[in-house]
Amino acid sequence: MSARGQAFGIDIGGSGVKGALVDLSTGELAHERIKIATPQPSTPNAVAETVAKLVAQADWDGPVGLTLPSVVVNGIARTAANIDKSWIDTDARNLFSLALGGREVVVLNDADAAGMAEDRYGAARDDDGLVMLLTFGTGIGSALMYRGTLVPNTEFGHIMVDGKEAEHRAASSVKERKKLSYKEWAAQVTKVLVTLENLLWPDVFVAGGGISRDAEHWIPLLGNRTPVVAAHLRNTAGIVGAAMAVESGIAP
Ligand code: BGC
Repeated sequence: MSARGQAFGIDIGGSGVKGALVDLSTGELAHERIKIATPQPSTPNAVAETVAKLVAQADWDGPVGLTLPSVVVNGIARTAANIDKSWIDTDARNLFSLALGGREVVVLNDADAAGMAEDRYGAARDDDGLVMLLTFGTGIGSALMYRGTLVPNTEFGHIMVDGKEAEHRAASSVKERKKLSYKEWAAQVTKVLVTLENLLWPDVFVAGGGISRDAEHWIPLLGNRTPVVAAHLRNTAGIVGAAMAVESGIAP
């Protein structure tokens, strides 16, 4: 199967490998998302096998865009958060291409993909200034876009905020682990946002990750000055951004 104006995206996370064909004129999925549990341990070879299974299940024979929860430079994973440490220094582009019969693939950071998708189709589509997306999950992912151009691999989840890494302070996993109320957690998120807005002065923050579904419970409690809007694409942003990356042929 192959079609004009469509591209295939796969979002690889700690618990699931999710993929679909994306209609790039709308940013919508062309069919129901396919999800396969991430193999444990999530080693490069095991994940590559899962990716091949997913693509076969979708009956897709064209190029594929893929995300990893890693810094990705020239197709090589440089870090590995929430995925097996053996990813570090793996040539992910080559690995996935081989697993998919030698076809063209593009690999990028998961938050970068989500940011590109929200910037073009979602919460930031009407903003032509500086957009910063933060995904709140097990860690904090970040994406920085200026007038539609991504600055890749920003990794603001690891910035030090008051003596502690941002993601150790305000990831949604911290809220769960410490059983924080929305009010308590929002105070931690505020500290992170203030640090970032004082350094980068974005026009808007887009809040992504699972907890963005409950945005009405906590966005109003934030005390920073830059507007914060909830992501629109929710659990498809990574897939859509991966498809955008392979369509444009541009990847960090
Ligand atoms: C990683 C990022 C990733 C984010 C979300 C962070 O811990 O360093 O590369 O984008 O988690 O998965």
